[in-house]
Amino acid sequence: MEYALDRFEQQVRAAIAATGQVPDGLIEVTAPKPNIPADLAFPTFKAAKQLGMNPPQLAGALAQAIHPAADSLVASVVAAGPFLNFALDPVRLSAAVLEEVEKLGPRYGSDDQGAGKTVVIDYSSPNVAKLMHVGHIRSTIIGQALYNIFRFLGYNVVGDNHLGDWGKQFGMNIAAIVRWGKPAGDGEDALAQIDKLYAQYARMAKEDPALDDEARAWSLKLEQGDPTARELWQWMVDLTLTANQHNYDRLGVHIDHNYGESFYEPMLPGVIQEALDKKVAYRDEGGAVVVDLGNSLPTFLLQRSDSGTLYHTRDVATLLFRLNEFHPAQILYVVGMPQELHFRQLFALVRAMGYAEDVELEHIKFGTIFDQHGQPLSTRRGNMIYLADLLNDAHQRARAVVEQASPDLPAAEKDAVAEIVGVGSVMYNDLYQDPRRNITLDWDRMLALEGNSAPYIQYMYARCRSILRKAAAEDVELPAAALNAQLPALLTHPAEVALLKQLARLPGAVREAGARYAPFVVADWCYETARALSGFYRDCSVLKAETPALRAARLRLVAATAQALLNGLGLLGLRAPERM
Ligand code: ARG
Repeated sequence: MEYALDRFEQQVRAAIAATGQVPDGLIEVTAPKPNIPADLAFPTFKAAKQLGMNPPQLAGALAQAIHPAADSLVASVVAAGPFLNFALDPVRLSAAVLEEVEKLGPRYGSDDQGAGKTVVIDYSSPNVAKLMHVGHIRSTIIGQALYNIFRFLGYNVVGDNHLGDWGKQFGMNIAAIVRWGKPAGDGEDALAQIDKLYAQYARMAKEDPALDDEARAWSLKLEQGDPTARELWQWMVDLTLTANQHNYDRLGVHIDHNYGESFYEPMLPGVIQEALDKKVAYRDEGGAVVVDLGNSLPTFLLQRSDSGTLYHTRDVATLLFRLNEFHPAQILYVVGMPQELHFRQLFALVRAMGYAEDVELEHIKFGTIFDQHGQPLSTRRGNMIYLADLLNDAHQRARAVVEQASPDLPAAEKDAVAEIVGVGSVMYNDLYQDPRRNITLDWDRMLALEGNSAPYIQYMYARCRSILRKAAAEDVELPAAALNAQLPALLTHPAEVALLKQLARLPGAVREAGARYAPFVVADWCYETARALSGFYRDCSVLKAETPALRAARLRLVAATAQALLNGLGLLGLRAPERM
């Protein structure tokens, strides 16, 4: 798709090319430094060198030779030393941007670059019979944001929740339940109870080998399809899925598939055999299957000596299944940093087996979460926070913010806004910076109405909506269509121009976020837009603008900004309140 800034860049390139003074391959344009009054620059160093000129001389000659066409987005060309600086025409830009936002609405910023390509995203992926803790929240939030971004870029996106629903630990879970009975109730309470039973059983099994044997026996029975084992396992899977769904609903998360590790069980013998046949693995004296790729990566197992399979084995089967089923161009694994080696080994093994040669395999790693005292969250430390509790806490705290920002809202609406703002603040905290960095649960910063936070951006959105509502209620006569076409020409105040340029950058931000697997590029855009908006509110009165035409023009700008912000926040998975 082509947006205003794309056309601007094309026109700049075409203008340079049309002088006949610079060969095509040497035309490179970049963003000028922030203090330069220009929108694109051509640094002439390389070209001048090739042409045997000095750079200021070339820049000067080009500035002389270029005369932008009358309908061009390029307003002016000036040489500044070795740079050739191009400025946007604010009036044409404003007409183009308003038209694009108004025409595309919720699709503004989208693209078709992904058409015909599939991306598989492996995200959330919590473990069955365990509460979903904040370690999975990062995967869930970052994964869903990437999902939304790739969809918006026109890709066919397949989201897969790679549930940890298989492995030795279920033998112990089942043994504990058989011994002490199924916990009553449902939801996260029941999960917490299962977790407790598991811990108790594990503790006792350390003292009493008979308990250990019992758990192993159940594990085997589960693998062999014993009806009791299967039934209890299925009960735990369903319970977990139902409990997690409640969190997903609050986070606006929708994952296409829940294949889970168990789904791959029947494929594992084939995978192990193939690895042996292809000589990327061997069977050791004890009977275990060891992968040795003959490179610097540590060896790892596909099968234990007791014939049990591993997380790794299931991930190989999963990858092969995905290649076969979805024919993706990319597979993204949104999983914490500690599994970095696991994925390096996985990708290397699959490639050594001759698969995924032209498929991009990417581990999107993320850092840890620290509490407000700077301590990493951990069960052992006793400061672990579970997702549902975290969201409830966020809701409660956001309620106070809403109370402060809008004491006059009806109670039910305050509650709804607190949910949008509270959950939004948790999600935004996860998305506003590079995922590899650790994040801190610093509620004061997360819920601040000023600064780089969800509430600030959501509040700025709500202000747009409030102005638009007031304008609609005042029922001022709308300008005739002819005048409407001239409105963009009125938006020439520096704060208006800055805001329009910011709106024009959304499509580029979305593309960059996709290319770098970096939702924070969109988060940055949202924040910068909210700031440009507050500059505009400070300097330009909308409802009391000097003339009806200017008022109408500014209302169009406010409506376009609200739409673009909604699109940006939506890509991050955040909702925006109508009032706040
Ligand atoms: N269930 C795993 C965990 O909680 C994460 C799974 C990630 N995805 C994968 N394909 N290995 O650690």
